Amino acid sequence: MCGIVGYVGPKSTVDVLLGGLKRLEYRGYDSAGVSVINQQGDLETRKRAGKLAILVDDITKTPLGEAHIGIGHTRWATHGAPTDGNAHPHLGGTTQKLSLIHNGIIENFAELKSELLEAGAVFASETDTEVAAHLVAAEYDKSGNLIESFRTVVRRLHGAFTILVMHEDEPGVVLAARRNAPLVIGLGDGENFLGSDVAAFVEHTKRAIAVGQDEIVILRKDSVEIENFAGDKVTREEFVIDWDASAASKGGWSSFMAKEIADQPQAVGDTLMARLGSDGNVHLEELASLTSLIPNIDRIILVACGTAAYAAEVGKYAIESWARIPVSVELSHEFRYRNPILTKNTLVVAVSQSGETMDTLMATRFAKEAGANVLSICNTQGATLAREADAVLYTHAGPEVAVASTKAFTAQITSMYLLALHLATARGTHSLNELQEIGRELLKLPAQIAEVLASSDAIRTLGKNFKDAKTVLFLGRNVGFPIALEGALKLKELAYIHSEGFAAGELKHGPIALIEQGQPVIVIVPSPADPDSLHAKVVSNIQEVRARGAQVIAIAEQGDTEVAKYAVEVIYVPKVHQMLAPILTVVPLQIFAMELSAAKGLDVDQPRNLAKSVTVE
Ligand code: M6R
Repeated sequence: MCGIVGYVGPKSTVDVLLGGLKRLEYRGYDSAGVSVINQQGDLETRKRAGKLAILVDDITKTPLGEAHIGIGHTRWATHGAPTDGNAHPHLGGTTQKLSLIHNGIIENFAELKSELLEAGAVFASETDTEVAAHLVAAEYDKSGNLIESFRTVVRRLHGAFTILVMHEDEPGVVLAARRNAPLVIGLGDGENFLGSDVAAFVEHTKRAIAVGQDEIVILRKDSVEIENFAGDKVTREEFVIDWDASAASKGGWSSFMAKEIADQPQAVGDTLMARLGSDGNVHLEELASLTSLIPNIDRIILVACGTAAYAAEVGKYAIESWARIPVSVELSHEFRYRNPILTKNTLVVAVSQSGETMDTLMATRFAKEAGANVLSICNTQGATLAREADAVLYTHAGPEVAVASTKAFTAQITSMYLLALHLATARGTHSLNELQEIGRELLKLPAQIAEVLASSDAIRTLGKNFKDAKTVLFLGRNVGFPIALEGALKLKELAYIHSEGFAAGELKHGPIALIEQGQPVIVIVPSPADPDSLHAKVVSNIQEVRARGAQVIAIAEQGDTEVAKYAVEVIYVPKVHQMLAPILTVVPLQIFAMELSAAKGLDVDQPRNLAKSVTVE
């Protein structure tokens, strides 16, 4: 889950690499490094443990030479602690003329390392990556052909990797290979780029190519060739990046997370755009390839991890209720290893912001092999998941940089509402009028999120006030339950506070024992207009925890005066169709976690131990 960037062209390479790494830093931030071949033809490498800023400082004080070719890396450690020595790039061979960076895990590195040690190689790090550097250097010493040497080595590697390599004796070319890890090419005019995702180069070009599985790229300033590991030429279609480069910058906000929370009206609006008419009719052209399957779907399995899995949980309620198809939500890493029953009439929906989460990718491949159809709900153009699925429904949240997912979450839920309405319309489970009415409610969401954001002072203050809390509990029912889980996850990952989300009805079955005097409990309260009178049940749950000393903060619908009697604070959100409430109720919870984290002096965008895109199993 590291970030990689490569460049060949006339611009100042160090600037291009550091700019690309800045936008990829969300992928890992425990060390960073770059290699360039300077104008004198010498390979120069600089790498430092810690965040990218440390490397940037170092290079500012002692600049690298002017160069027009280079590679850069930002690391999330797997093999070897985050030290200067383990940071990438790694140099290969005794002459140290070859530089290599890697994202992924080389599973057979121990065996390859023994072979190299026997041959006299000297290792400077504890990483799996360094074996690849020595192997390519050794092959090159034998053959004098860099491409052939690289091809020979990548064929020997097992596991997941995107590898970039360059050699002082071949100063015009960067080679790249990918297996089970992302790699995208950026096509420029007299310059070309490589990146883990398009964010690496979107400020320089909007033209891109997604590299396929087991493919090698030969990148020069005025040419790009792709071949498979056997050396056969491959043609891949170019696509146009629809992200605006400025969307991947903070633009004056205190953090990317603050900006991304504020982006949510647009993220939801853009996800609806061109798919939902003002009459409330849904048109999902992207699902055309699934048309003949839709009447026959007997089961939907939503696979995802983390926040995406909580979005999927909300999707389950909507799809079951509107399209009347049985739905289960499975954590990708559990699903893949428990021999689930899949048929050609099973639709597996893989939900992922990055489209590169290895657990979700493996679940998807497994489902396809078992004969199921796969739809991906994905935010990143050209991502592996989008390419491997039978159909893709893109969320249009724009680049999400903060590690804690916010706007991707609300956009994922929005996509699942659209999917549910599309399936319901196709299967005729409800009258068109009813479905259109829900569609028209969906159209109001962007303005309603903006309203929640505009009245967020109270939740911001609460976040600051609870900075010393040791534990925070979240309760919800029905679609409020996944929001309770998401609120708790946000707090864990951002503020390092123990927090748990519970189904409010489950409380009396055990968790209520946790409640003691002063315990903060945040409750997502359903609408009082709820036909199943869940409101009354949740108010009872509030009274139960209050009676045991809890301080209750309620997230409730405007006009809900009943709940105000039992809560120390009520955060009101606009009245909305009960199924759509999660898009509004999650926003105060995101803000609460962000403010609490900031009040503790923590890094909101890059919490400890995490990376945004988890590309290892
Ligand atoms: O890219 P994905 O949506 O597949 O990522 C899944 C999870 O790793 C991700 O949602 C994670 O839980 C977030 N850091 C939560 O904020």
